[in-house]
Amino acid sequence: MQEDLSFDHIGIAVYSIEAALKSYAATLGLSMERTVSIEEQKVRVAMLSLGESRIELLEATDPTSTICRFLEKRGEGVHHICFKVKDISRKLIAFRKAGLHTLENISGTGYEGRKIAFLHPRSTHGVLIELVEE
Ligand code: CO
Repeated sequence: MQEDLSFDHIGIAVYSIEAALKSYAATLGLSMERTVSIEEQKVRVAMLSLGESRIELLEATDPTSTICRFLEKRGEGVHHICFKVKDISRKLIAFRKAGLHTLENISGTGYEGRKIAFLHPRSTHGVLIELVEE
């Protein structure tokens, strides 16, 4: 069992956060934590609380954003799931040793400035997995 791995959020790529909030906040009733822009990733993010978990709505702020490319290819939908880890560097080394492919190195530019990294979907059966340090 992975005691130092827990679920954090699901990331959903949307064309417009404002439009998506009509469904997720107004209709489904999820409460909005806040909206932030993450320059380096060229996205605007809205975090919504759902019990112990969260839903992250991702909107591209630039045509070169990975979210923009995702939307062009696949349209709106689930983009990634995110696991929380205690020590992201240690976890990445362990995952690489186990043969998993990582998408990029650790970046300090996640939501709330937390350290994040990604596992390539080809290692995880088609699902992009984000790791975030607690
Ligand atoms: Co995320």
